Amino acid sequence: MAPAAWGHAPLRVAIIGCGHVGLVTGACLAAIGHRVICVDRVAEKIRMLEKGRLPIYEPHLAELIQQSRAAGKLTFSNTSGRAARDTEVVFLCVGVPLLDSGEADFSALDSAVQEIARAVKTTKLIVERSTVPVETGKQLKHLLSVYSRSHRTVFRVAANPQFHREGRAVEGFFHPDRILLGVGDDRSERTLRRLYAPILKQSFPCPVHARNCPPRKPPKLLLTNVHSAELIKHASNAFLAVKISYANVLADLCERLGGNVDEVTQAMGIDPRIGSRFLEAGIGFGGPRLPKDLRALCRLAERAGADAGILQAAEDINLRRVDVLFEKAKRSLWVLKDKRIGLLGLAHKVGTDDVSGSPAVELWKRLAAAGALIHAYDPQAMAEARRAHSGIACGADAYEVAKNADAVVIATDWEEFRNLDWQRVRDMMARPLVLDCRNLLSPARMKELGFEYHSVGRPGD
Ligand SMILES: NC(=O)c1ccc[n+]([C@@H]2O[C@H](COP(=O)([O-])OP(=O)(O)OC[C@H]3O[C@@H](n4cnc5c(N)ncnc54)[C@H](O)[C@@H]3O)[C@@H](O)[C@H]2O)c1
Repeated sequence: MAPAAWGHAPLRVAIIGCGHVGLVTGACLAAIGHRVICVDRVAEKIRMLEKGRLPIYEPHLAELIQQSRAAGKLTFSNTSGRAARDTEVVFLCVGVPLLDSGEADFSALDSAVQEIARAVKTTKLIVERSTVPVETGKQLKHLLSVYSRSHRTVFRVAANPQFHREGRAVEGFFHPDRILLGVGDDRSERTLRRLYAPILKQSFPCPVHARNCPPRKPPKLLLTNVHSAELIKHASNAFLAVKISYANVLADLCERLGGNVDEVTQAMGIDPRIGSRFLEAGIGFGGPRLPKDLRALCRLAERAGADAGILQAAEDINLRRVDVLFEKAKRSLWVLKDKRIGLLGLAHKVGTDDVSGSPAVELWKRLAAAGALIHAYDPQAMAEARRAHSGIACGADAYEVAKNADAVVIATDWEEFRNLDWQRVRDMMARPLVLDCRNLLSPARMKELGFEYHSVGRPGD
């Protein structure tokens, strides 16, 4: 296990909020040698973590947590105040959801800040890790001093947003392309440089790939003020959302004009000014973050009196994506009532068990409301999906849900679905019809196997 932060003096770190961001940040900082205490106000979550069970699925996270706990580098607690008092750096990783009004809901941040301010007696660095609207740091600094019981306590506030993709978050933490530090003073910068020194120098044995980890380029260190760091995170997520909606506009154009969206986006993506990632046509984006961050930036722009038309258009296009795929299913099956559909995928994207705002679940709702009899399978997200939507019937594997089905619908792009024995699937279906909402499979190969195959923006669609 990790010795003292791989040649750098370790820091004592408190992580407030044991959701995806808090657990990944806490476990990874502990793995590079820091002493970390992860806090959550939900006592049941802490009991679960102490028993070695995780509230979320993220590749490699369970092993890291187990190793860091065994090495005495990682502990859990449900009192933020004490954890903040006994550490040097406090990461705020609580959720900042949107209210129905479109405004950010700061209540979790507010209560965390009150607890911290009242308990802390010495100079403390507070780091925003959550995605927050611009100027949140300024407000946090003000509230920390308002709630503080000691006039001599100095709170420094920095922003260090997390950019890693769910499903690749642990790997992304150890090998990021950039580390963004939004700081307002030299001391905060020095502390955060020390915290990230092993990552900045790539000077630690990678806990994910061990000996097989190829040499990596050190990440870029981006130093900005706190406002810019807050804006960069929102702006990045909103840009990715725009890119996906743009690819979906191209897919619709290809379907009407006879192009192939894969050829178009692949050729565009070779241009380094454009890049191919997220230029992917399909069922659109969901999950707890991209839609929220896009909405929040729209709202911020409106409030600031800036033209947010491009963001609004990306959101509208995305909201219509499930309708587009539902209509395709209806066109192919003609009548949906009592048709048996095998739904492959429930997670909002590959690599996660998260179903919040999942387009796959939205499609399930639309098909179920039209009377289709749906049997779903997802390698990770079935428990979460059933918890959130009691009516979802699930099968043990992809073959089970395909058996006697009138159609199979691919709604999440798990590799497992690409690698199915599709000949076997065809033989067990009542009608060999596949609707591929993620362009996961090759149309030529599926036709060769005798499927009626429909995807998004490719010839034949
Ligand atoms: N999940 C991601 O991949 C990701 C990536 C980048 C940024 N973000 C952003 O980071 C933030 C957190 O995301 P998440 O997915 O981890 O959220 P989450 O809602 O899953 O987890 C937040 C946790 O904080 C706890 N909490 C709330 N108030 C608390 C308090 N006062 N004291 C202690 N614990 C408290 C909650 O019980 C919950 O367990 C959000 O702003 C999100 O937009 C998330």
